[in-house]
Amino acid sequence: LAVDQSGVWRFRDLLPIVADDQAITLREGNTPLYELPKSAAALGMNWLLAKHQGMNPTGSFKDTGMTAALSVAVSRGFEWVACASTGNTSAAMAAYAARAGLRSMVLIPEGKIAWGKLSQSMDYGSMTVQLRTDFDGCVRVLTELVRRAPIYLLNSVNPYRLEGQKTPAFEMLEQTDWQVPHHVIVPGGNLANCAALGKGFAEMKHLGFISRVPKISVIQAEGANPLYRAMQANGGESLEPVVADTRATAIRIGNPASWRKTVRILKANGGWCEQVNEREIALAKAEIGAEGIGCEPASAVTLAGLKKLVAAGHVGREETAVLLLTGHTLKDPEYTIQYHRGQLFNAAELAGATPAELGQHKAF
Ligand code: F0G
Repeated sequence: LAVDQSGVWRFRDLLPIVADDQAITLREGNTPLYELPKSAAALGMNWLLAKHQGMNPTGSFKDTGMTAALSVAVSRGFEWVACASTGNTSAAMAAYAARAGLRSMVLIPEGKIAWGKLSQSMDYGSMTVQLRTDFDGCVRVLTELVRRAPIYLLNSVNPYRLEGQKTPAFEMLEQTDWQVPHHVIVPGGNLANCAALGKGFAEMKHLGFISRVPKISVIQAEGANPLYRAMQANGGESLEPVVADTRATAIRIGNPASWRKTVRILKANGGWCEQVNEREIALAKAEIGAEGIGCEPASAVTLAGLKKLVAAGHVGREETAVLLLTGHTLKDPEYTIQYHRGQLFNAAELAGATPAELGQHKAF
């Protein structure tokens, strides 16, 4: 069965949705858990792992949620689906809608998403609308739209997306032979992924597969840090939206939808929320690239954040950490080329970076 080849649907006993023959699947999930030996050595850690969700069919972790939510859209008889996106949700939705034979519409902020992602939604045949606003503005327009027309909303407020996005937690445990990592580190944008993984680990504990859950920490870009600010200001009691700006365009979000769920996970599991600047993101991305793996800028915040968590003593060098790499390096090649050409930061700005950070594990 196609569903048995899917890293999401093979866990269908733990999903609250649809019959086998209705699943819209592209064989998502079953992503690799890589070791990052060079970065581990640079940090003085024994075990640093990366769950590479960029190895999904459309190149990001969004596929695990889209297979679930699109299947629900079909079973409910919708003809149209839509989302606002910083690029990856729209790429995933467009692909799964095409497989399902549904029409799809994506609202994206003009000039603010990576080319790879924009090209995907066009390639998969989605009605691709660029609006002269940011992600948060796109969400506002879409909210109005779905109120007026029979369109199934596929932003991460859709609970079935989170059901799919919890399954990488199950895979991670299989891949570590049920040794629960001490720390899982995720990038924070709209803040759904942390909530989904938290739910996945909680379910495994509830069912008795594991006896404790990992600490889940969320890393935001300094220019898009509403959760970081909220945690500092009031422990996550309330969140003030910010005007977001970062070259990690996937997480350029000022008013995250799922912040309450993520605060709950941070508190329940005992993780931290950290922020990292543009230079730290770029260096971490180069470092992951030089492991022969690579990821998009938004994913690299995890390594940049881990360095800070280790320095602060929150993550012990003898502990195990898993970075959630959310998107493939080919999503945003322009960023990578600009970085390596010295167009993002000049030599003076990179002065003081370690060889590991510069991706120079060996002398050239
Ligand atoms: N990493 C990547 C590559 C992303 O595309 C996103 C979110 C995140 C991390 C953050 O995940 O929102 O669950 O906290 N991208 C969304 C999109 C917003 O539209 O593609 P989150």
